[in-house]
Amino acid sequence: MTTPAHAQPPTPRCTAVVGLQWGDEGKGKIIDLITPAFDAVVRYNGGANAGHSVVIKGVRHALHLIPSGIFHPGKKAVIGNGVVVDPDALLRELDALAAKGIDTSGLRLSDRAHVVLPWHKAEDETRENALKTAPPVGTEDEPSPHGGGGDRSIGTTKRGIGPTYSDKAARSTSVRVADLLRPELLRDKITTTWRFKKPTLAALGYDTSQINPDTVYDNALAAGQRLRPMITDTLYELHDLLRSGRSLLFEGANATLLDVDHGTYPFVTSSNCSVLGIPAGTGVPGKHITDVVGVFKAYSTRVGSGPFPTEQTNETGNYIRERGREYGTTTGRPRRVGWLDLVALRYAVMLNAASRLALMLLDVPAGLPELKVCTAYEIEGRRTERFSPDADRLALGRPVYETLPGFPDITAARHRDELPEQCRRYIEFIERYVGAPIDIISVGPDREQTMARAQT
Ligand code: IMP
Repeated sequence: MTTPAHAQPPTPRCTAVVGLQWGDEGKGKIIDLITPAFDAVVRYNGGANAGHSVVIKGVRHALHLIPSGIFHPGKKAVIGNGVVVDPDALLRELDALAAKGIDTSGLRLSDRAHVVLPWHKAEDETRENALKTAPPVGTEDEPSPHGGGGDRSIGTTKRGIGPTYSDKAARSTSVRVADLLRPELLRDKITTTWRFKKPTLAALGYDTSQINPDTVYDNALAAGQRLRPMITDTLYELHDLLRSGRSLLFEGANATLLDVDHGTYPFVTSSNCSVLGIPAGTGVPGKHITDVVGVFKAYSTRVGSGPFPTEQTNETGNYIRERGREYGTTTGRPRRVGWLDLVALRYAVMLNAASRLALMLLDVPAGLPELKVCTAYEIEGRRTERFSPDADRLALGRPVYETLPGFPDITAARHRDELPEQCRRYIEFIERYVGAPIDIISVGPDREQTMARAQT
């Protein structure tokens, strides 16, 4: 018997884990650590542009689309409607997991998620290339403030994310997961869409003979057949879990400063990566989410273009990049590196209503004589502690730093009170500035190199 709608259900627990910077904060490790306490892990945004690796019993697994809950037997791993799904990438991930003997029967895929097709990836790449070589904007005396002169590219992962979300909004040129199971409709949609895509791609200089719509159709149909057992209305599935008192863990992909509405637009991704994306991307209203873990690194990184006030293109930046292995999981690109930006961090804490924080990679800046943290910007001669998600305005921001003493190696510390005094000062400074407690501290890649407040 199902619970009547008016009956008082047991109180479910919903936690969200979100990145507070420009991505790659180490969310995968936190999610893997806390998943045992949840019944389902749910992705709500992004696509195969995200990437994290999880080390299980010494084996490294790279995931882009599948929620990391898949490694925990008996848990559901849900890809919500807000995700854009590249069927080839998803099937590759499923095959790789199966080859390692991992049971993937807990995976659920929303029938309303939108499908990334070959023309989306072609458009992403072709647009980026065209934007790179665009004629300079502005004059020699007054160049564009975006950095890179006439280079207007966003620095995307070229996974077709932006074009797929564009088509989602455009509606008439979009394919949803449910369509993969409807052969006639699918053929119709693919034929219609190609009529629009072909001339657009050709005008951008793309060789359209590389895409054959019949092959696109055959592949999409075949992918649908393989994915059929996991395709479902995930909204009902999630609400059924909530009604029976089960707990959900929402896994944010990309990160807050890449949020299409609240990030450093236009140098962002195309989805709502902050917690604000959860309701629309899953159908679970925000009132259920009572616990938000904001994940950030002891310094900042960013991949792709866009303003980055605390960027260090010097020896300090190189030191952090090498020690933190700051190269993209999805694209292998070297990440841009900078000091911790507390103005941006406090903004992200506010936006997500982060109730607790996880401070990652604290071991990486160890050995530096001093650490700087940005506590304000100076924009056009005025000091402000407010973050500006407007890229043009942010690009004018000069960071105002507070300098704190450096600290030695901390990789062996297992409790907060084992950390050197200078390191604890760094942590406390952050907590005071952003007004949220740091609950989890990571001092190395291993599970044991993580201290939770409960232990301290
Ligand atoms: P897209 O999401 O591929 O369209 O890329 C848009 C911007 O977001 C680019 O600057 C990417 O480098 C960045 N981006 C997207 N996903 C991630 C991520 O998971 N980590 C870091 N940067 C990301």
